[in-house]
Amino acid sequence: GEIYGGSRSAWDYGPLGVELKENIRQQWWQRFVRSRADMVGLDSSVILPRAVWEASGHVATFTDPLVECLSCHKRLRQDHLLENFEAKKGRPAEGMEEIACPNCGTRGEWTEPQNFSGLMKTYLGPVDNEEGLHFLRPETAQGIFVNFNNVVTASRKRPPFGIGQIGKSFRNEITPGNFIFRTREFEQMEMQFFCQPGTEMKWFEYWKKHRLAWHEALGMGDDNYRFHDHEKLAHYANAATDIEFRMPFGFKEVEGIHSRTDFDLSQHEKFSGRQIKYFDPERNENYTPYDVETSIGVDRMFLSVMCHSYTEEELENGSSRVVLKLPEPLAPVKCAVL
Ligand code: GAP
Repeated sequence: GEIYGGSRSAWDYGPLGVELKENIRQQWWQRFVRSRADMVGLDSSVILPRAVWEASGHVATFTDPLVECLSCHKRLRQDHLLENFEAKKGRPAEGMEEIACPNCGTRGEWTEPQNFSGLMKTYLGPVDNEEGLHFLRPETAQGIFVNFNNVVTASRKRPPFGIGQIGKSFRNEITPGNFIFRTREFEQMEMQFFCQPGTEMKWFEYWKKHRLAWHEALGMGDDNYRFHDHEKLAHYANAATDIEFRMPFGFKEVEGIHSRTDFDLSQHEKFSGRQIKYFDPERNENYTPYDVETSIGVDRMFLSVMCHSYTEEELENGSSRVVLKLPEPLAPVKCAVL
């Protein structure tokens, strides 16, 4: 919608961009879905019954604290303001009094924070009312959990095994920005790896190692990655870390790895009334598998590739030029005769 001024929600990819994006997807899909005997793929829908998001906890907890500048009335995420202050000053803010509005510069004039839902709403059917209210998925993960029984039956997999999915997700982000770093429409490549309870920490460490190795193999510099282990965990996790990449605006999350326990499968079992378990023929018992998730944004990965590849070179004749030094496996053009 650029010719109409855009909506600051999403970006379009042109003929070369779409190839680079497809190569990112292919690198992931080939490596983690096609070439592994313990992985299968899935393509689940974007619009799911509302109950899915009630069971997953998104309706109740997928909220961000929002504050409004009393001077210019711009609404901003409080956690982002506090993070930016700390990144700039090297220490946490003592309160909102210290924080200046990035829009108008007024310092410390904020409303009390209010929770704001990040779910993107849509109305299905002939009337726009509560009955037709649905949400666009904010993560592809739940489509995997609700299909657990179908996949186990159809593919005859037994834990440990994983289900991978690539697809669009939508979040009503309050402060989209940094180009394609944070948008309202974006694409995720997610994998849920189901394992026996008690083995999840082993798999968590395994996936940390393997996902980092995948990034590093692209050749964008091992020093440009680091883990950021979470101290404050989401309601569904017993361990979590981010893989961060050195962007021009600091180390930022490109991928999340979460040990989600049996939270999601158990919640869907509780809310749907359907049994969602794995029957282990060796132990002759049913159990709810634990899940380790890896989740990376295609667009965010795209941004890390562009940031890393952009170089300015000084030539011997004194002039300079801009060169995109893209990692070979991702480059849309591998070779050209001009
Ligand atoms: N299923 C877990 C999950 O969605 P997340 O940490 O909220 O976890 C995972 O998101 C990844 O998705 C992030 O590391 C990031 O790469 C990408 N992502 C999340 N929100 C995004 C947004 N608004 N714009 C672009 N990418 C986003």
